[in-house]
Amino acid sequence: MKVQNEAVVGAHQERFGERGTVAMAPARVNLIGEHTDYTGGLVMPMAIGFHTTAVISPRQDDRMFFFSANYGEEKTFVSADLERGRTGHWSDYPAGVAWSLAKEGVRFSGFNLTLAGDVPLGAGLSSSASVEVATAMAIQALAETSLPLKTVATLCRRAENEYVGAKSGIMDQFVVAGAIAHRAMMLDCRSLEFDLLPLPEDVRVVIVNSMVKHAVATGEYGNRRDEVEEGQAVIRSELGRELLRDASLADLEACRDKMPAASFARCKHIITENARVTEAREALLAGDVKRFGELMVEAHASLRDDFAASCAEIDRLVEIALAQPGCIGARITGGGFGGCTVNVVEADAADAFVSAVQLAYEQWNGIKADCFVCAPEDGALALAANGGAV
Ligand code: GLA
Repeated sequence: MKVQNEAVVGAHQERFGERGTVAMAPARVNLIGEHTDYTGGLVMPMAIGFHTTAVISPRQDDRMFFFSANYGEEKTFVSADLERGRTGHWSDYPAGVAWSLAKEGVRFSGFNLTLAGDVPLGAGLSSSASVEVATAMAIQALAETSLPLKTVATLCRRAENEYVGAKSGIMDQFVVAGAIAHRAMMLDCRSLEFDLLPLPEDVRVVIVNSMVKHAVATGEYGNRRDEVEEGQAVIRSELGRELLRDASLADLEACRDKMPAASFARCKHIITENARVTEAREALLAGDVKRFGELMVEAHASLRDDFAASCAEIDRLVEIALAQPGCIGARITGGGFGGCTVNVVEADAADAFVSAVQLAYEQWNGIKADCFVCAPEDGALALAANGGAV
């Protein structure tokens, strides 16, 4: 982390002639609770040890320079440009955050901002939320303000929804900003209340990247959301339940004939997933990691069959994982349609698990899957508070 930060400060200094102030934000993996966040539901993500570093220094004029050390590319904005919104360029993410902070009433001068990170892109590990939150923390440092967690998460989500144009929920921005090391976070996406839950010491979270790219800003994610919203609207008008979060399977069944079959299936996933997250919390609190693993497997089947958001590569990875000794649970994680699986594995079996999964996957389709053995890390606010960003 320190090495990465020093390198980014060096890149910033070389480009802009000043060392600047450092902020950082992690990536995240979701343990369980998928596609529930935008219906006010329950999720259980944790932050992981990949980071975006943002280095910022003030300018005398009102221009905003965004430099990506990863892409070796710079883009300049003046305030009026921010009103135009999405351009389809990577700079939409940090520019959207500047726009959203201004909307929040935060006043800041022009600045030079360098971004760099090691978060795998398009893998479903929230590279975009990591960039957004790192940018929000950096601009707040410039403006000498520090907004509370809910505000940071909400304004970053607004950047993604309204500026970038991706219809994501609040989960990623919230956990990337608010996570605490050694804990998974169960977040209620309606109230934004959360619980920090311990994972047993003797298990590891192993992320396996199928290397199939996923993109939240386009295509299937948005289609699923539309299908869900259509079902949710029927339940609202028929039964007066505002959000799917408030609906039971019996409610859904009562509305079956009034919605397309696809909406019924998507809503069924969400209603059962909320119940699984609640049970997963109880399992963790009771130290029952076996039950937690079973719930992950059920969640995968639901996302695959009812939500139709998996793909052949991911299903194969889950199958391979579950056949390995010491594997407690495995499922797809994130927006879906590719990306990564998340696996809970006995600690002393983790290394052998990684080798065996990589070998079997490569034998199956010739692709070498990247694997990461993770532990829950601090989010951006905790990093800033602990001085970890400097
Ligand atoms: C993406 C979105 C999140 C959430 C997940 C699916 O990561 O950014 O808001 O909807 O997909 O659980």
